[in-house]
Amino acid sequence: MVLLGRRTPATPRRAALAAAAVTALLATAACSAPAAPAEPEPTSGTEVEVFTWWASGQEKLALDTLVQAFRAEHPEVTYVDAAVAGGAGSLAKDVLASRLANGDPPDTFQVHGGAELAAHVAAGDVAPLTSLVDGTGLAEALGPQVRDLVSVDGTVYAIPVDVHRANLLWANSDVLVEAGLDPSATYPDLQSWFDALAAVRAAGYVPLALGSAWTQVHLLEVVLLARLGAEAYAGLWDGSTDAMSPAVASAVGDFATLLSFTNANRSSLDWEDAAGLVAGGDAAFTVMGDWALPALGAPVVRAAFPGTDGVYDMVLDAFTAPVGAEHPDGAQAWLSTVAGAQAQAAFANVKGAIPARSDIAPSALAAYPRSATETFRSAILVPSLAHGMAVSPEALDEITRVTGLVSRGEASTSRLQAALAQAVSG
Ligand code: GAL
Repeated sequence: MVLLGRRTPATPRRAALAAAAVTALLATAACSAPAAPAEPEPTSGTEVEVFTWWASGQEKLALDTLVQAFRAEHPEVTYVDAAVAGGAGSLAKDVLASRLANGDPPDTFQVHGGAELAAHVAAGDVAPLTSLVDGTGLAEALGPQVRDLVSVDGTVYAIPVDVHRANLLWANSDVLVEAGLDPSATYPDLQSWFDALAAVRAAGYVPLALGSAWTQVHLLEVVLLARLGAEAYAGLWDGSTDAMSPAVASAVGDFATLLSFTNANRSSLDWEDAAGLVAGGDAAFTVMGDWALPALGAPVVRAAFPGTDGVYDMVLDAFTAPVGAEHPDGAQAWLSTVAGAQAQAAFANVKGAIPARSDIAPSALAAYPRSATETFRSAILVPSLAHGMAVSPEALDEITRVTGLVSRGEASTSRLQAALAQAVSG
């Protein structure tokens, strides 16, 4: 298992050579942090306000498993839910930013590992968690890649709870049959999949269900991964791949072609709505991370996104201890529960993820987390763009904005390519 490059905000071009980056990034993946804030002092832990975007549906049910474990371990601490709905934190991240700016942090908040966490560390938003990590045995339970994604300069700043895989293709087998396609067929490359999409369109179904801008960036990301391969995709985020190259131009062109196969109302749908088009038999395919698994029962089939077999496009969820929060000991209680093996197994089983800990017995895991853990162990790991792991929050906002413009026909694909290039240089 190797983790290919991710961008570290303070040193965007440090890992200039893709091959070297594989190991170099693992050894040095960190940004220059400001003087580390002190670890929180225990005070009276009467409650913990937990900020996430797991507000409804299956994601809320998964969060409930953590809450249940927390209540069993810490009956003295009141759990306060501060979830803000919107897939991928599309609304929650703005609410969080304004709370942090106003000096009103929640006691703990959900964060993605990699660039997103590093930006919070650089801003002095979150405290180090060294004692908690050492005290709970989590240090030994995390694989080096996962640990790296929650660390800056070797210090852990967030407790990872799960790892998702973004590069998955979901399909309604009944719709495929109606379109004359074999539901068990796999698509080794984009071209073969384009042919299938055309067949679905000819049969009168939506070929590819898509949602609003962040899901469009998610699609763009897996197309870049398929066209460029893992190493060059990862190199986009550390500067070792030229984002203005013809290969990137043609990937962005493929993305535009794919948009033409999607539902016209995409801008107004979140990922669950797009998944619902597939589950309900209106659309043949959708592209989404494995958090869609609990929502997509039979007759939906799942495969790696065309051309990305053997690659794990990682989305890592973690929780922080914000500086200046009202109940730091409530936060420490929450973090120690979610660091635990039992809580992580229960959560992964409902969420459709693998636990962040690498020491969980396969027998504690449901079928999907068990098989995904196997896949993860032998896969090439790359960081997700759409989910904040690869580039700074500002760069991702700009890519998301321009992707939305392209989707609405208000910007060209070359403008999108320039936004990708700007993400690293800017
Ligand atoms: C991701 C997050 C997942 C899931 C998904 C859809 O950003 O890491 O856990 O919540 O968004 O909302």
